[in-house]
Amino acid sequence: MQNRISSLFKIKYPIVQAGMVWASGWRLASAVSNAGGLGIIGAGSMYPEVLKEHIQKCQKATKKPFGVNIPLLYPEMDKLMEIVVSMGVKIVFTSAGNPALWTAYLKENGITVVHVVSSLKFALKAEAAGVDAIVVEGFEAGGHNGREETTTLVLVPTVKEKIQIPLIAAGGIATGKAMLATMILGADGVQIGSRFVASHEASSHINFKNQVVTAGEGDTELTLKELTPVRLLKNKFYEQVRTAYAEGFTKEDLKKLLGRARAKKGMFEGDMDEGELEIGQVAALIHDIKPASEIVSDLMEEFYKASDKLPAI
Ligand SMILES: Cc1cc2nc3c(=O)[nH]c(=O)nc-3n(C[C@H](O)[C@H](O)[C@H](O)COP(=O)(O)O)c2cc1C
Repeated sequence: MQNRISSLFKIKYPIVQAGMVWASGWRLASAVSNAGGLGIIGAGSMYPEVLKEHIQKCQKATKKPFGVNIPLLYPEMDKLMEIVVSMGVKIVFTSAGNPALWTAYLKENGITVVHVVSSLKFALKAEAAGVDAIVVEGFEAGGHNGREETTTLVLVPTVKEKIQIPLIAAGGIATGKAMLATMILGADGVQIGSRFVASHEASSHINFKNQVVTAGEGDTELTLKELTPVRLLKNKFYEQVRTAYAEGFTKEDLKKLLGRARAKKGMFEGDMDEGELEIGQVAALIHDIKPASEIVSDLMEEFYKASDKLPAI
């Protein structure tokens, strides 16, 4: 499918597999890229040396384009930037920070830059910073998110009215029909996170994957807004967060509660009680764990079927 996003990344389908801490290493990224989408290595949970290894393995596992996601709140930013440039990474998705900080540097080094936003205000900032495209992420999305609580259904057309650069919709997309819906609203492509957590190649612990496929509607909540808002699956750790709120914990207390490597404990080590489990509302629609290539082909099959049924607009 040729459009602004597939042309920008030189890929077959305008499907981006989201960069995700503790889930998207080289195995998932290369599988998605080999299937015709854009695979992304999530650098947010990797030490610089680990990121290097994942890039090397991904370069061996696929000849197709892939990218690296760098959340801009990462403590050793200079090291990660140096690695992506020196190892010839062609596409970088930045998130969770100011797009003005690194965009020019990356672009000077020939890298295509995409920034993730969750509001119109930051979409305008990202465009002004010179990024090549933006990911517009709605309130439904898994992981860290904005405070505005704007849903994908509202955010995509709102941003589309004001922005000229290509737009990638994210948040709540796990099916070809949802992909089509966001493209009707003005998106040129989609970024998908939660659906790819429940894939064979995701590095997430099997306990977490099993939890995702049994989650129902209402089983997640966007919380911890005083720190960085994050959508969590409601487990024992989430209940501890709720109790902390009820007892009037300060920001510092909340930091301490989160501080014990909770995300790694839950999503990577499989502790379903004490760990932090990041997933989107769309988990309610994910019922199986399957190969990433099948996820991509199912998405496209359903997308084409649904678009054939549309009356001419
Ligand atoms: C387990 C998990 C980890 C995530 N980690 C990151 C991350 O490191 N960087 C980032 O920009 N977004 C992260 N996200 C958000 C995704 O990039 C993506 O935008 C989001 O998952 C899209 O919504 P969906 O989950 O409804 O598909 C994460 C999401 C999940 C589910």
